[in-house]
Amino acid sequence: MRQSVRLKSFELVARDIADVDVHLLHALTASVGWPHRPKDWDFLIRAGKGLAAIDGIGRVFGTAMWFPHGEDFATVGLVVTSPRTQAQGGGRWLMDHVLEHCRGRDLALNSTRAAHGLYLSLGFVDEA
Ligand SMILES: CC(C)(COP(=O)(O)OP(=O)(O)OC[C@H]1O[C@@H](n2cnc3c(N)ncnc32)[C@H](O)[C@@H]1OP(=O)(O)O)[C@@H](O)C(=O)NCCC(=O)NCCS
Repeated sequence: MRQSVRLKSFELVARDIADVDVHLLHALTASVGWPHRPKDWDFLIRAGKGLAAIDGIGRVFGTAMWFPHGEDFATVGLVVTSPRTQAQGGGRWLMDHVLEHCRGRDLALNSTRAAHGLYLSLGFVDEA
């Protein structure tokens, strides 16, 4: 898997989300109209694992998280890419990292319309 990805003029690397300032994560979710507050991000980072796509000066262009339940199951969430770089492959790149980290686990998620095609293409199937 590629450890970095170039989206437009931005060279992004994957960083452990626990090492990222929650205010930058908050700015990302706010940019797509999600209601998460910094303290919600604090809680999510304590509850799960994840990564953020970061450029050379520390800006956050995307996130993806997973929440392990036991040894063989996890839920996936907080899959978000910055509107300025959407439809460039960043969402798929983040999900490839999630699938790699979650190998051996069954996965479930709730999808928005925007992400539905991406998840179907990765092998997820509709349940409801
Ligand atoms: C959903 C989201 C994460 C996708 O991120 P992205 O960076 O645009 O994803 P990618 O560029 O890797 O595209 C993945 C697939 O989505 C589809 N897609 C992306 N942008 C699209 C667009 N503007 N129109 C139609 N399809 C689109 C394509 O099928 C693409 O597949 P391809 O690789 O075969 O072309 C992003 O749109 C987003 O953050 N949306 C708001 C938050 C959200 O809904 N998150 C999902 C939570 S479940």
